[in-house]
Amino acid sequence: MKALILFSSRDGQTRDIASYIAKVLEGKVACEVLNILHADKLDWSQYDRVLIGASIRYGHFHPAVGQFVQQHLQALQQRPGGFFSVNLTARKAEKRTPETNAYTRKFLLQSPWQPDCCAVFAGALRYPRYRWFDRIMIQLIMRMTGGETDATKEVEYTDWQQVQRFAEEFAQLPGKKP
Ligand SMILES: Cc1cc2nc3c(=O)[nH]c(=O)nc-3n(C[C@H](O)[C@H](O)[C@H](O)COP(=O)(O)O)c2cc1C
Repeated sequence: MKALILFSSRDGQTRDIASYIAKVLEGKVACEVLNILHADKLDWSQYDRVLIGASIRYGHFHPAVGQFVQQHLQALQQRPGGFFSVNLTARKAEKRTPETNAYTRKFLLQSPWQPDCCAVFAGALRYPRYRWFDRIMIQLIMRMTGGETDATKEVEYTDWQQVQRFAEEFAQLPGKKP
């Protein structure tokens, strides 16, 4: 039996966090890491727990995340499950909990699936990799919120120790009765 770790990622940070969680759990829990966009034909009988991670772009998770939850609700509810979100608002520690991070709070309020553990991770800011429109927009947001505005910079805000602690919490979730 193994854990299914699904990620929704545009620039790779959430994918890297998902892979890191799998690495932390190596030798304790077998993990399969999959892009949620390519997870339409799943054999749920293989998995005894599930983790979904998703990043924010312009205020929203990718629509595939909500669609996946709707489509696989029963399978999700039958297993211990975790959720993590990745965004730049969470670079500020006071916006890095499910209760204080607006995107995550909204997701949890609206989601028919209620994960058994949840975390918010700060993502990465990688100006040189963005298209000019995105670069200008992110610069504007950063200027308004007191963040990095130097468009030559790449900054990773992810707290990998926080990710490690969450991986361990996820692995320790008790099983659910059928
Ligand atoms: C075009 C664009 C829009 C973004 N919009 C938001 C946003 O609305 N709020 C936020 O907190 N972070 C926002 N971010 C930051 C991303 O969530 C952050 O870069 C994260 O690491 C991306 O993860 P990913 O590479 O897995 O997609 C945005 C980033 C980009 C490039």
